[in-house]
Amino acid sequence: MTPTEIRPGLEGLTVAETRLSDVDGEAGELVIAGFPVETLARKASFEETLFLLWNDRLPTQDEHAALRKDLAARRSIGPEVRAILERAAGEDVPAMDALRMGVAAASMDAEVADHQAQARRAVAVLPTIVGTYWRYREGAEPVAPRSDLGHAANALYVLTGESPADHESRGLETYLNTVVDHGLNASTFTARTVVSTKSDVISAVTGAVGALKGPLHGGAPGPVLEDLLAVHETGDPAGHVRETLAAGDRLMGFGHRVYRVRDPRAAVLSAAAEAFFAEAEDDFFQTVETYERVALDLLAEHKPDRDLETNVEFYTATILHGLEIPRDLFTAAFAMGRVGGWTAHCLEQLADNRLIRPVGHYVGAEDRPWIPRDERTGN
Ligand code: ACO
Repeated sequence: MTPTEIRPGLEGLTVAETRLSDVDGEAGELVIAGFPVETLARKASFEETLFLLWNDRLPTQDEHAALRKDLAARRSIGPEVRAILERAAGEDVPAMDALRMGVAAASMDAEVADHQAQARRAVAVLPTIVGTYWRYREGAEPVAPRSDLGHAANALYVLTGESPADHESRGLETYLNTVVDHGLNASTFTARTVVSTKSDVISAVTGAVGALKGPLHGGAPGPVLEDLLAVHETGDPAGHVRETLAAGDRLMGFGHRVYRVRDPRAAVLSAAAEAFFAEAEDDFFQTVETYERVALDLLAEHKPDRDLETNVEFYTATILHGLEIPRDLFTAAFAMGRVGGWTAHCLEQLADNRLIRPVGHYVGAEDRPWIPRDERTGN
């Protein structure tokens, strides 16, 4: 490739070998470290998924127990970090900004001597940061993380202050597994770029949180939930879809840059959400299913030459709403899962590192004369 062959957004450019995940947009398949996402999301604990990504194999029973214990020991934050989160909550700083501040401080109050320890600390502490921030925002005192709970159950506990039911923990765990990794998306590539300078994993996760915050990356589930709640209230999905499309707006939760068929993660989360709402005896899922069917029919009429299918954000909104995770925390909940992928990519990058350093094609001015400051006109 010559330097002037520019690929805006690096689209379609292969920049690394990875054993972590493979996205096939035409077939609608996502493989995570050798397992179809459908298998991994349903069967694995989040600790098992982390071990798999970090070590390229599933853990034995003893290794699983040891990782669970190790992560549980890395969940706490000290008074200085709590104070940052309290101030952020008091000033209504958005959740992703508070998360970025909290993660940046995660190398305090913890042993993070090597990259493995940094990866474990980043994953373990994220729920504590999010839960502490949210409880301050709600005017409640934070609760200390519980070492007797698995990662997903504890993530719900630090948010609500109550022990979650099994189906709630499993619902969140399935979600975390489903979104743990997805190729070289913007936040993952950010994390790899940061560690490629031989920086540390906490810095990489801090940068990745910043990248995920942008609405082009992690922001769709909130608006999807608004649509679903409106339709649940009116009982008129067709009216809502027609109105949205007639206004020239896009229907949130449908369409994808890579997938041309139904996003496989939507299927996994749909099944998980169905089981979850059945257990909770809540009829919200019927609204969701009807809305999806009606929306797909009307989108096919609206854009007959384009396969617009359900994407992961549609069922992310469904399942997170079922778990009573507040809308303001949707992107932060995504980060709690994706941090597994970020850290695994960091370790993979560091194991065979090459500084990430692309080139830009200069199109600026040439041969400018230097004019002394007091003689410049500003043109
Ligand atoms: N509703 C209505 N029309 C749509 C939708 C939609 N959800 N998605 C695409 N289209 C239409 C576009 O208006 C466009 O029409 P045009 O050719 O007349 O201008 C055509 O389909 C192609 O649109 P593109 O933006 O080129 O399609 P692309 O595949 O690149 O877009 C995207 C992908 C950005 C996700 C888009 O489908 C969208 O905006 N969806 C809604 C937002 C959403 O759900 N985002 C989450 C994506 S999943 C994720 O990020 C993990």
